[in-house]
Amino acid sequence: MALIAPSLLAADFLKLQAECEMVNNSAADWLHLDVMDGMFVPNISFGPMVIEFVRKIVNKPCDVHLMIEQPARYAEQFKNAGADHLTIHIEACPMLHQDITQIKSLGMKAGVAVNPHTPVSLLSDILHEVSIVNLMSVNPGFGGQKFITYTLEKIRQLKQMIRERNLDVLIEIDGGVTVENAKEIIDAGADVLVAGSTVFRASDPIAAVEKLKAL
Ligand code: DX5
Ligand code: ZN
Repeated sequence: MALIAPSLLAADFLKLQAECEMVNNSAADWLHLDVMDGMFVPNISFGPMVIEFVRKIVNKPCDVHLMIEQPARYAEQFKNAGADHLTIHIEACPMLHQDITQIKSLGMKAGVAVNPHTPVSLLSDILHEVSIVNLMSVNPGFGGQKFITYTLEKIRQLKQMIRERNLDVLIEIDGGVTVENAKEIIDAGADVLVAGSTVFRASDPIAAVEKLKAL
């Protein structure tokens, strides 16, 4: 059974409290929060201030995905806002080891995210330092995009790297996850499924989470 992390990006922001309560009442394991700066990705979403409010209501781990340039500048602010996991992009971090070390020293679980074109082999020398690898299965920036099927191959490659070295690292798949394709993503070796539209745009979001959990 995979962990399910609804992504707040697809929520109705006029009803943020109700959306957070829905997540609390569902079988979701984490809440996924997508931060975008309009530089690393073309879109701008929300920052630590919104997360601080959300954190007051949500009673599940907050999985913060930073799609921003020089993310380490903000690590402490996201910790103070209540992030439990902080994931940064390999493409945004020339000093990735230093940034991951900083996140961990602030008391958060560290994650590294890779864009669809970035080979998982590039994770080889950081894998033992992180708790989560976020494999982007769409180009980051927007919800509601189509799952890139080559991600399945990347999941299998990464799973093998993790197994060979007996590491405790979760593979998180982010983008285009649906009730229809979730099973083959899990079968390929995914541990965590991020689901934005599939949960928040469903007529019954709680049932959508349940369907994903049941696979
Ligand atoms: C995309 C974000 C995703 C997004 C997923 O840049 O990182 O977390 O919210 O949305 P869906 O599930 O709708 O593809
Ligand atoms: Zn995300």
